[in-house]
Amino acid sequence: MEILRTVREMQQRARDEKRTGRLIGFVPTMGCLHEGHLSLVKLARARADLVVLSIFVNPIQFLPGEDFFRYPRPVERDEALCRDAGVDVLFYPDVEQMYAPDHSVMIEETLLSKGLCGASRPGHFTGVATVVVKLLNIVMPDFAVFGQKDAQQLRVIQRLIRDLNCPVDIIPGPIVREWDGLAMSSRNRYLTPAEHQDALCLRRSLDHVEKRVREGELTVETLRTELAQRLARVPSVRVEYIEFVDNETLRPVERVEGAVLVALAIRIGSTRLIDNTVLGS
Ligand code: PAF
Repeated sequence: MEILRTVREMQQRARDEKRTGRLIGFVPTMGCLHEGHLSLVKLARARADLVVLSIFVNPIQFLPGEDFFRYPRPVERDEALCRDAGVDVLFYPDVEQMYAPDHSVMIEETLLSKGLCGASRPGHFTGVATVVVKLLNIVMPDFAVFGQKDAQQLRVIQRLIRDLNCPVDIIPGPIVREWDGLAMSSRNRYLTPAEHQDALCLRRSLDHVEKRVREGELTVETLRTELAQRLARVPSVRVEYIEFVDNETLRPVERVEGAVLVALAIRIGSTRLIDNTVLGS
């Protein structure tokens, strides 16, 4: 596995690859890799001749006071995982490589990014959109893989690719869960064992909603109330949002008709966790 640290080297490598007609698959990450990321590498590996994974903790998608500085950066472990997973090129730039000191261009998605996580993290998706476009321009992939756990991020990126005519296919990767149902996340590391147990209410409450929909309950108000009651039973949980939205437009819905995304964000202690499921698909 090659490790490239500069934009110039990565672009040169991508150009050489493209000249020979080889297909580049890309998995952008912020590192602290887990099975969720590795499942995205597997999807890329199955289709691409060259798999590039980037690790870059992107400062401009963190709000002041968020966990940018304490975000885990287990460099050697990540490199070993990439090697074992069959990554061909690890792109590992530092902040100076990615942002000039007078960097002044940002990319803002103005519709899908405003609700859900965007409501409590203003500017977050502008940071994500900007770095994703930069990474795509550097890696020049034929396709890029993004996890469905960050459902809103995935929608924003799909919109960005469509509206800016970026020549890349976006492949969604399903949510990967720990054996007990907690969605894999680099931030799970912050949880104490007791908090981890409490966090299982996320999957359990989504399971409950799925069951109620199978039983025929399609009214969002009823489902939301039941879901909120389940989360309220766990004293350490502070709910940030419980949203039922159209899976494509992310607009709130009142009934489960067509594909409806149920998206949750909670805080346990100082850790923010999100999870989701798609109903009726
Ligand atoms: O999902 C992530 O890990 C990040 O938001 C991404 C897409 C790599 C951009 O920094």
